[in-house]
Amino acid sequence: MIIVSHRGPFSFRRIGDSFEARRGAGGVVSALGPLLLGDDAPGRLSDEPVRWVAAAIGDDDRAAVEAGAADVDEVDLHLLALDPAQHRAHYEVISNATLWFVLHGMYDLVRRPRFDDRFFEAWEAYVAVNAAFAASVVEFASPGETVLVQDYQLFLVPGMLRDARPDLAITFFCHTPFCGPNSMRVLPDAVATAICSSVAAVPTGFHTQRWARAFEAGVHEILGEDTTATTFVAPLGPDRSALADVLDSDRAVEADGALDALVKDRAVIVRSDRIEPSKNIVRGFLAYDLLLEKFPRWRGSVVFVAMLYGSREGLPEYLAYRSEVEQAVENVNRRWRTDSWDPVLLFTDDDFPRSLAGLARADVLFINPIRDGLNLVAKEGPVINRHDAVLCLSPEAGAWAELGGAAVAVHPYDLVQAASALDEALAMDPAERRHRADDLRRLATARTPADWLTDQLDAAR
Ligand code: G6P
Repeated sequence: MIIVSHRGPFSFRRIGDSFEARRGAGGVVSALGPLLLGDDAPGRLSDEPVRWVAAAIGDDDRAAVEAGAADVDEVDLHLLALDPAQHRAHYEVISNATLWFVLHGMYDLVRRPRFDDRFFEAWEAYVAVNAAFAASVVEFASPGETVLVQDYQLFLVPGMLRDARPDLAITFFCHTPFCGPNSMRVLPDAVATAICSSVAAVPTGFHTQRWARAFEAGVHEILGEDTTATTFVAPLGPDRSALADVLDSDRAVEADGALDALVKDRAVIVRSDRIEPSKNIVRGFLAYDLLLEKFPRWRGSVVFVAMLYGSREGLPEYLAYRSEVEQAVENVNRRWRTDSWDPVLLFTDDDFPRSLAGLARADVLFINPIRDGLNLVAKEGPVINRHDAVLCLSPEAGAWAELGGAAVAVHPYDLVQAASALDEALAMDPAERRHRADDLRRLATARTPADWLTDQLDAAR
């Protein structure tokens, strides 16, 4: 089996003349890693070796590849040392500043995008990087081998593989939402056509039916009604034992104590996100501000713990969004803080044990994305929470399809509704909270990472 993802399961750090391998982060890796890394990993198919093709990200990864040191025991890792300028254009200009924005419906179309010469040069780089991934698979895949390609950074790989190696059993899994046909029309025609025809060449998985339907409609719009796309819906589930291990760690226990000392006996709203425009973090603070304005009983008796960590900071959009987030926190705190109460506690360093400690401590889990492929935190939070937390969830998160029945809906743009949803969640009576928390745990654990992997393998074959 070959896994193909942009971000790999390990990154390397130079220490003197040698390199230290570290387990990587990111959604794809945390889902597949526990299943596939190591000889006893449960997702391994008998004695079939697992090869993982990914990009070398950053100078130390590239140096490790050049030194022939980018090896680990757990998996047959193949990191691609791409041309840095080409890789930057692929990752920043096309994957994150264009495709991510289209897929999540985040463009302000009056102003952006503008597809100029710089864009088309970057598109050439995106094609070249996808071709490098495909070439690596073509070179090493045994006849008929299963290949699982992951996510929007590699949209063109399925079609390239299908053309070069018709013998392979290939699937593509899209971790993001898929936009509707009108949004696909925003892309230059050749780009939309290249993406749709590549992805439609193999069975394609999504976290919800909604994104699968949007993709099928996009394919019909761009390629014509006669083109059929085979899709499957395979939501990811949380890895309960991995979460429990982190939650039991000294670091998480320490973070839990520190958090308790800060929030005292107040009700606690928690969010944990990458600092990412699609997560709608600023509107979340505006809704909280409105809660404190309209429902004065919460002043002084609730704390919003926001655990947000930097992401994609090479992009100006993300850096600007980070300042807006920090400003929004400052505005709420300046308006409402007292000598003994800070309404928002903001943590911006990436500290996974502390994030889990926060999710476990929450009375309300607040997740209000503009649009989200799944949002695994919406499942992880209820699974590890110890306070019968109410889940305030945007119906625009893929996880809504599974969890919506036991959650309180929070509209991503309607601040008045969102403030009322927070009030409802904070005021909910204990029996109702318990009942919903039990339902959420059941719904959130209905699927495991192994189910998700099995669905991809079944679709491939
Ligand atoms: C999303 C994408 C993943 C990606 C993650 C982190 O969840 O669907 O493919 O791994 O964001 O993004 P990054 O740009 O840091 O790899």
